[in-house]
Amino acid sequence: MRTVASDLKSRVYNLLEGSWQKEAGGKAVNFFLLSLIGLNVLAVIFESIEDIGRRFEAPFGLFEIFSVAVFSVEYVLRMWACTADPSRRYEQPIAGRLRYAATPMAVIDFLAIAPFYLSILFAIDLRFLRVFRLLRLLKLTRYSPAFETLGAVVYNERRALGSAFLFMLIMLVFASSLMHVIEKTAQPEAFGSIPAAMWWGMATLSTVGYGDVTPITPLGKLLGGLVTIFGIGTFALPAGILASGFAQEIKKRDFIVSWTMVAGVPLFARLTAVEISEVATLLRPRTAIPGEVIVRKGEPGDAMYFVASGRLQVLLNPQPVQLKSGDFFGEIALIRVGPRTADVVAMSSCQLLVLNSADFYDLLDENPALGETIRRIAEQRLQDMGPSQPSGTGDDAA
Ligand code: CMP
Repeated sequence: MRTVASDLKSRVYNLLEGSWQKEAGGKAVNFFLLSLIGLNVLAVIFESIEDIGRRFEAPFGLFEIFSVAVFSVEYVLRMWACTADPSRRYEQPIAGRLRYAATPMAVIDFLAIAPFYLSILFAIDLRFLRVFRLLRLLKLTRYSPAFETLGAVVYNERRALGSAFLFMLIMLVFASSLMHVIEKTAQPEAFGSIPAAMWWGMATLSTVGYGDVTPITPLGKLLGGLVTIFGIGTFALPAGILASGFAQEIKKRDFIVSWTMVAGVPLFARLTAVEISEVATLLRPRTAIPGEVIVRKGEPGDAMYFVASGRLQVLLNPQPVQLKSGDFFGEIALIRVGPRTADVVAMSSCQLLVLNSADFYDLLDENPALGETIRRIAEQRLQDMGPSQPSGTGDDAA
């Protein structure tokens, strides 16, 4: 039975964390918080101008107290309401809340107010803490899908980026060590040790070239020239990797989810036209190229997928299972709040409709019959996999 408190908690959850349209006032609350973050950043910037900072010391102080009060209430409410998360990840009152407190967004929320309380408890130099207030800017990441895209690009390209950084590090160590050997007698202050020479190495390889330390021996100049030429290529690598990653990420979304596309998924056949339109707003388009691994066995699940067109394979033993237009996959990890049970690979160019985990749980909440069908199919799939996969999809998620 839902109590008044749990109803209130769900409403607070939807106001702060859920989709804005779901709760009346959600848009207003989020707009207010966004504006306050913006004003806070402006305040820190203007306060640093000595004249303005001194003249408006009192209003700045009051604004800071008001902001910390609002952000503190926001933090406490988020911590209180997180147990209403539909995925039930944070369901336990203490362990769940601790888990929530350790999520990156909650840590950012905490850091945004912690310096203020620290300055009350301990006599810390306030000017130093002022800069930490800029951490409030990070709170904006919650509101922008662009940060999600950036995160996805960095994650997808992590191996290529890792190799590029390793290559940069090798170049830096080699260039600086060689320059140290060549120039140490001529310029002991600038190149007397390898770490000292690394300052020159960084400035040269990155092509910034401060010019405060430069080689003066002919051999040093020759090496400096070579390092500059190689530096352009090496340090441009990460930028190139990120640019192509962005292009790929954007290409993945280059079709529009239409009503007909959603209506064509057999699972949604029993929904009314209005319900299908609502589902269509939740689904994100994603394309996949042949051979692309969409979900990887063992990884945590963050979305479920519907196949709008194309062919895929679920890599199961002894026989892979084929998926085609109208099928869905990726539901098991979400229902069980556990790892993916198999790799799913695109066999042709595919158009997929992606339902992220939060919307998945909401949809199941709102359409129990749909939830029942998905659970039944997931249960069947788990049984087909054999005894190595513990079944039990019934009560694991909302
Ligand atoms: P999940 O475990 O999240 O990720 C891998 C997906 O493969 C899984 O969800 C199912 O959606 C899908 N899958 C597993 N077994 C089968 C099966 N026998 N037939 C079709 N799809 C399956």
